[in-house]
Amino acid sequence: MDKKITELLDAQVNKELYSAYLYLGISKFFSKEGLGGFASWYKVQAEEEQEHAMKIYDYLLENGQDVTLNSLAAANVDFKDALAAVKEADKHEHYITKEIEKIMDAAVEHKDYRTQLFLNWFITEQEEEEHNSGEMVEKVEMLGNDKKNLYLLDKELGSRK
Ligand code: FEO
Repeated sequence: MDKKITELLDAQVNKELYSAYLYLGISKFFSKEGLGGFASWYKVQAEEEQEHAMKIYDYLLENGQDVTLNSLAAANVDFKDALAAVKEADKHEHYITKEIEKIMDAAVEHKDYRTQLFLNWFITEQEEEEHNSGEMVEKVEMLGNDKKNLYLLDKELGSRK
C-alpha cells in the first residue's frame, strides 16, 4: 500500500474517533438540557463513529500497515442552544465526507483498487450521515429552540437503537 494512502487512512482513524468524541459531547449537552432522547440518539451516533474507526483500523492492520493512535483533539461542545449543536454535527459530517473523498482520490491516483473497494462503504455511509444530520437541522429549525416544542421530537429520537 502506498505510504500516502496509509497516512491518510491512519489520520482518518483519528478523525472518526474524534467524531465519536464530538457526538458524545453533543449527547452530554442534550443530557444537561433534559432532552434524553436527543442525548441517546447522539450517543448511538458516537458508538457508530467508533465502529467506523475500527473498520479502518482493522483494514490497515489486515494489510500489514501500522496505526499510530495519535491523541484526540478536545471536542468544543459549548453550544448556545439545540440548533447550534445539531448544526455542528451537520457541518462535521460534510467535513468527514470531504476527508473520505480525499482518500478515495489518492487511491484512484495510485491505482489502489482494494482501497477503492474498501472506501465504497464509507462513500455510501456518508450519504446517509449527511442525510440524517441535515434532516435533524431541518427538524430543529422547524420546531425552534423551545424545549416544549423539542419534547415531541425528543421522544421520537429516544427510540434509536
Ligand atoms: Fe464516520 Fe459520521 O462519519
